[in-house]
Amino acid sequence: MNRASLEKRPDEVAAMFDDVAPKYDLVNDVLSMGQTRRWRRIVVDAVGAERGQKVLDLAAGTGTSSEPYADAGIHVVACDFSLGMLRVGKRRRPDIDFVAGDATNLPFADNSFDAVTISFGLRNVSDPKLALREMLRVTKPGGRMVIAEFSQPTFAPWRTVYTEYLMRALPAIASKISSNPDSYVYLAESIRAWPNQDQLAEWITGEGWQAAAYRNLSGGIVAVHRATKPGREDVANTGAQASLKHQSSRRTL
Ligand SMILES: C[S@@+](CC[C@H](N)C(=O)[O-])C[C@H]1O[C@@H](n2cnc3c(N)ncnc32)[C@H](O)[C@@H]1O
Repeated sequence: MNRASLEKRPDEVAAMFDDVAPKYDLVNDVLSMGQTRRWRRIVVDAVGAERGQKVLDLAAGTGTSSEPYADAGIHVVACDFSLGMLRVGKRRRPDIDFVAGDATNLPFADNSFDAVTISFGLRNVSDPKLALREMLRVTKPGGRMVIAEFSQPTFAPWRTVYTEYLMRALPAIASKISSNPDSYVYLAESIRAWPNQDQLAEWITGEGWQAAAYRNLSGGIVAVHRATKPGREDVANTGAQASLKHQSSRRTL
């Protein structure tokens, strides 16, 4: 198994991440030129969880995105469907609650988390809209969702430079340091095929979340989207809900 196709068959995606698991965090740091650490801090701030709350970190991989919550005394559940990634994570952080599960069919009860977050994972899910609905189901009314995902640089010349890096330099560098350089061809292709900031915000509200907003990081290489699950009083007001669903979501965090 080398790389997943853009059809994102779950077995291919999980096997690809099983393959890259041992060096995943190292390669990430190199390819993002250290930026991932800053992006992660911003995601944690956007989640805004407090001690005593329960957070689901979906597509958590080796748990690097889950660690700041655990370090802050927040009960974080790190869920992923690649057993290879989970094993590496559990070995490094035995204190974190790692759970095997598919984002499109989550093994959690309705309304069980104060917040859900997914970093660099939604793009890999075979049916991302179904995952957005599953995240909504397991979040408590009024709870928050935060997504970090690669996106589209907003400044056209920068977008050209970045696309060039993505399609040429990134697979070349990965071939030197990764055990599975082909998976970085998939990474580049999947980023190019992913919806831009506004389109993703529309998906989010289209699946029932409200108050979707986003913030661009590193000129739009990454976007952090945030949204809220309607509270019980919002649900009671079904008329308002229907209009919210189609509201434009161009707000900034
Ligand atoms: C690029 S890694 C991100 C890991 C981690 N969140 C981070 O920020 O480092 C993407 C992860 O998504 C997981 N993934 C992809 N599709 C999934 C699905 N349907 N259900 C659960 N995990 C999934 C992969 O197994 C992989 O570990």
